[in-house]
Amino acid sequence: MKISSEIASLATHAVSGYSLEQRFYCDDAVFAADMEHVIGRKWIVAGHVDRVRKKGDYFLFKVGQESIIIVRSDESTISAFYNVCRHRGSLVCTEPAGRVARFTCGYHAWTYALDGALLAARLMPADFSKKDSGLHRCHARVFYGFIFINLSDQEPADFDAAFADLAPYLDFHGFADAKIAYAQSYPTTANWKLIVENFVECYHCASAHPEFCSMHPPEALVAFGAGPSSGPTDAVEKYLPAVKAWEERAAALGRPIGTVDDGPESSHLRLLLQRTIRDGYETETPDGRPASSLMGKRRQFDQGRMYLSFSPFTQVVATNDFAVLFLFTPRGTMHTDVDLYWLVDGKATDVDVKRMIWGWDETTKQDKRITENNQAGILSTRYQPGRYSEQERRVVTFQQWYLAQFGCALT
Ligand code: FES
Ligand SMILES: [Fe+2]
Repeated sequence: MKISSEIASLATHAVSGYSLEQRFYCDDAVFAADMEHVIGRKWIVAGHVDRVRKKGDYFLFKVGQESIIIVRSDESTISAFYNVCRHRGSLVCTEPAGRVARFTCGYHAWTYALDGALLAARLMPADFSKKDSGLHRCHARVFYGFIFINLSDQEPADFDAAFADLAPYLDFHGFADAKIAYAQSYPTTANWKLIVENFVECYHCASAHPEFCSMHPPEALVAFGAGPSSGPTDAVEKYLPAVKAWEERAAALGRPIGTVDDGPESSHLRLLLQRTIRDGYETETPDGRPASSLMGKRRQFDQGRMYLSFSPFTQVVATNDFAVLFLFTPRGTMHTDVDLYWLVDGKATDVDVKRMIWGWDETTKQDKRITENNQAGILSTRYQPGRYSEQERRVVTFQQWYLAQFGCALT
């Protein structure tokens, strides 16, 4: 693998247990290297199939400088194409979402079929071949309702090797047939690594997230707030018996039990943690009462919640009656799209949207504010890498994983 010299020289100063050097968070050359070596090589979720149920339904997914058309080409196929006209390179599609019979470029009206083939191009020379001028295809894969894309030029990382073992959990939650009950965007003026680092630590939960904290046992947030290995070792050991006891009860109700805690050498740094929520609560709403009907294969509430990370770019938090899909999509050096989709069971009819979104809507607004403040402070001449607490261990794992994408390591 070609190592970015930019990152390699910066990485020589990266010390385990400290935040990264300033340039990792605000330098355009670093962001370009991130696009090439990290973001552009991973399977990242662009959305859920509920956005494209009918033939011709499409939406645009923007990552870095790329605009990708996600479209249902026919009943059984969801395709992804680069939104770049093969004539002179204009965006073909400019509406963010819709339903079309074909795509027509607004510049000179070249027209493409839903499978990307060029259908019409007026007054072209006799030796021009429409056959060779279809839209460029982007790697895409649908897995239990989640639409993954991969920008790699070559054959990308093997999808099944990366994700197949998550199938039982996704099946149990009914994600393939789920529907979107609500969506909200929280575009954040910060480098994507700050957004990920914030999401994988719960050191800030007590000071920044009163609503979130009200729904969880405080010991759980310290021990497991951001995954199985995120908290101080003694806090994890102390809380583990409570998790085990809940796992036994939940398993008896049919929930698949297990943990995923990928290390820095993994391809996608996945995470899966299931644990109980606050005593007496059935779900993550202001009063703990349900906001929708049970999701997937459940027959009764089990007081549990699942935190699943497909990669640093895609997170899912699932209670018994709804789930939140988080997409952290880098758009520029200090510009990241944060999009949330609240998913409910495909058959749910009576969803209390206000109570359902209360926790994560408030929490994400708070995360946007604290992360933007973090970015602004890092731009100061006086910023220097700071020491992490015992509750920020997953941030170190993330940094190790990030640097490993360049063949580098923390010292
Ligand atoms: S650039 Fe699209 S038709 Fe000319
Ligand atoms: Fe947060």
